[in-house]
Amino acid sequence: MIDAAGKLIAKADRIVAFSGAGLSAESGIPTFRDSHAVSGALWTKYDPMTLASPEGFAADPQAVIAWYNWRRRTIAAAQPNPAHQALAAASRNSGLVNVTQNVDDLLHRAGAQHVIQLHGSIAVDRCHGQCGHYEAIDLANPPDLRPCVRCGEPMRPGVVWFGESLPADAWTAAERACSQCDVLLVVGTSAAVYPAAGLINYAKSHGSRIIIVNTQPSEASRLADFELIGPAGEIVPQLFDR
Ligand code: OAD
Repeated sequence: MIDAAGKLIAKADRIVAFSGAGLSAESGIPTFRDSHAVSGALWTKYDPMTLASPEGFAADPQAVIAWYNWRRRTIAAAQPNPAHQALAAASRNSGLVNVTQNVDDLLHRAGAQHVIQLHGSIAVDRCHGQCGHYEAIDLANPPDLRPCVRCGEPMRPGVVWFGESLPADAWTAAERACSQCDVLLVVGTSAAVYPAAGLINYAKSHGSRIIIVNTQPSEASRLADFELIGPAGEIVPQLFDR
């Protein structure tokens, strides 16, 4: 199966990698929904509406910032794994486009080009008001809750929360890439969160073949031409090793 999927990739002109939290799991970054996760997936331990929604932020902004800063320090201490490295090399060598739901910076640190972050970036803060102010932050030493220097509204992580829209430019770019690709390589996502997960069906309906890499079946299994069950860090490099 890996060999046949690798041949499909080798023949493809346009490849999009659509990734989720499982891509970074072997780097030590917890997933959200994952019955195989040894230390428990995040949404089995924490309430997403408390920690990842505008309502949760309004109710207890200190708790939300503290939780994101814990995740930021975890990401700062992590390193890209062989799956990030393989996707980054393919982006540099053959123009693979990375469409990711991940808010971490591990694809960037692996040297990837063409990274579209559908759910924003945890490496920036943005104003929770309407002024549009952004600040890059140090993941290892993230700032506490503070007001926006421009308008005084609270600063918050530059990620998409439940109930919020995806960044329009990222979504437009992702749809364009998924409508034109020959192969969509789906890595480490439960494919449970929309609209992002809808890109898999969208790519298939535009003629793309679908290769899935996951440690277990997912919501997208029925769409797969090849479903490769196993860790991304072991399987993804093999797909590009020809
Ligand atoms: P999930 O946590 O929902 O799914 C992670 C998937 O990765 C699961 O299907 C696991 O089986 C798989 N997995 C775990 N370890 C793996 C490994 N080493 N190799 C391959 N696969 C592995 O993460 P996402 O699908 O990314 O939203 O979740 C989507 C969104 O839900 C996230 O972007 C986040 C969350 O709420 C926001 O932050 C807005």
